Amino acid sequence: MSQFWSPLVHCLSPYVPGEQPRVEGLIKLNTNELPFGPSPAVAGAIEAAAREGLQLYPDPQSGALCEALAAYHRVPRDHVFVGNGSDEVLAHAFAGLLKHDAPLLFPDITYSFYPTYCRLFDIAYETVLLDGAMRISVEDYRRPAGAVILPNPNAPTGVGIALEAIEQLLAMHPDAPVVIDEAYVDFGAQSALPLIARHPNLLIVRTMSKSRGLAGLRVGYALGQPHLIEALVRVKDSFNSYPLDRLAQAGALASLADEDYFQQGRAAIIENRARLVTGLECLGFAVLPSQANFVFARHSSRGGAELAQALRAEKILVRHFNAPRIDPFLRITVGNGDQVSALLQALKGILSR
Ligand SMILES: Cc1ncc(COP(=O)(O)O)c(C=O)c1O
Repeated sequence: MSQFWSPLVHCLSPYVPGEQPRVEGLIKLNTNELPFGPSPAVAGAIEAAAREGLQLYPDPQSGALCEALAAYHRVPRDHVFVGNGSDEVLAHAFAGLLKHDAPLLFPDITYSFYPTYCRLFDIAYETVLLDGAMRISVEDYRRPAGAVILPNPNAPTGVGIALEAIEQLLAMHPDAPVVIDEAYVDFGAQSALPLIARHPNLLIVRTMSKSRGLAGLRVGYALGQPHLIEALVRVKDSFNSYPLDRLAQAGALASLADEDYFQQGRAAIIENRARLVTGLECLGFAVLPSQANFVFARHSSRGGAELAQALRAEKILVRHFNAPRIDPFLRITVGNGDQVSALLQALKGILSR
């Protein structure tokens, strides 16, 4: 029945999200969610919002949330854009900022939604190889480019790049938009926020899915100078005027207001990550230096697919990518203390067999 499809649909290769199975007792370390969930204040705010006004459309600009984000990040209100998860914000950036005659550049190993969006929006792109240590080497981006996008820290490697390197990249391509996807920045990498005022080509994309434990609410945002934000608003208002419903706006506001809970969550993940890395190294894994809430690790003698399969049999889900260069690796989300212990225990058993 595919004769009913628009021609474009035949050429798409959709993104494959990590599994969300409903299995009793499953330890889910495959999609980089926060094991603790969001601030308890979020549920209260959502309940209150559900009791009043659901018959009315939400604020199409999410004005109160944009103002709160602006205050939180100490930027003017017109520097903020919000969307339905950072995936949607990224989609608008691809459509509104990243399509030019010269190719869009991004790392060969990175968030696999980027090439998917390129196909959806018919954007020419070139990938730039990570170096031998699986790091982004900014010097390798010194080539013709219509735009650049990269995550900091990168996914699925977890490896971050320094602020100076980002500044070098911005200076290298002053006439091209540069999008830094900071989905995981709260777990230890340096944000490019201090560079926004000086660089009219810098857009930062953030999410509340990871460090704020709100993956289920779908709230992402972008920070940049007003001419970049305007491009996103123009695309949004040509697509869906109301990307954030009333509950999402209320929940996101409550999360932002609970700074203590946010800081405790980040600190706990950073601490658990250190224990996870040490434990994995003791079991014979090489672990890339991670600044994210996941680690990317390869075992000295066992393959990634084999280990992921064996863990699955023990009801532990991790992510394995059947792709060149990263096939030997497992991407493991940093869980709570018990989850880290259970994973290390299970791997110990598997590796002894
Ligand atoms: C690098 C990166 N950017 C963006 C996202 C999208 O996050 P969300 O749409 O939940 O905000 C993810 C999700 O896994 C990611 O890994």
